[in-house]
Amino acid sequence: MAALRLFAHRGLSARAPENTIAALEVAARAGAEWVEIDADISADGVVFLCHDATLERTTNGSGPIADKTWAELARLDAGAWKSPRFAGERLPLLSEVVEWASRRGVGLNVELKSPLGGARQARRLVDAACEILGDACCGVLVSSFNHLMLARAGRKTSHPLACLFEAGELREDWRTRVELVGARAIHPAWEDLTPHRLERMRAFGYDVNVWTVNCAEKARELARWGASGIFCDDVEAMAASLGVTKDALLD
Ligand code: G3P
Ligand code: MG
Repeated sequence: MAALRLFAHRGLSARAPENTIAALEVAARAGAEWVEIDADISADGVVFLCHDATLERTTNGSGPIADKTWAELARLDAGAWKSPRFAGERLPLLSEVVEWASRRGVGLNVELKSPLGGARQARRLVDAACEILGDACCGVLVSSFNHLMLARAGRKTSHPLACLFEAGELREDWRTRVELVGARAIHPAWEDLTPHRLERMRAFGYDVNVWTVNCAEKARELARWGASGIFCDDVEAMAASLGVTKDALLD
């Protein structure tokens, strides 16, 4: 059974505020080789990390990101909602995270979100993110549920691409979509996979990284079926359950 690549989903998000430098740092200290982050864009064109299109769940701000300038976003607390220990964490810039990952030798899976600001903001996000990723001295994998954005990214960056599929949206035409985008990897939801589907994806040469798997038994099953990697919220606990030592994670 081949080893699974473990992606720390939004950093070590089970124990630190997702998509912050704190969550990335905890993941790196736990031995994570790869972290997954979500990238969005402010009203004035600055690329930063945030999963939701609105601010309420993970910051002390409110309302849609698309309406806010970076000056407004940069003031927000993105850590206290998780625990008072993380009060003062900020929404990180993508450029800051690229610098962090390059220094720490950690690979970055940058998931481009679909901005609420529409097609123009989507184009701005792709172009700005690809320019920032040009400076990366670490492994980079660019993914998105929005395959039009991903196809544009393919014209702006030489980093490999991954097509994300929402749960229930992996249809039999997956290969046409992945080929049109020119993606090297497929990121399906675990619910949509069967051994046959996974075998076909692997037979066509694609990496298959599955989201979001927090159950070690499911992870073992996916590994038996041939998955290349999984996204998990606690990369340290998952590595321990799978019998992967921290040293092995860091090799
Ligand atoms: O990139 C894998 C996973 O993060 C996709 O879903 O909603 O957690 O960004 P979401
Ligand atoms: Mg994500």
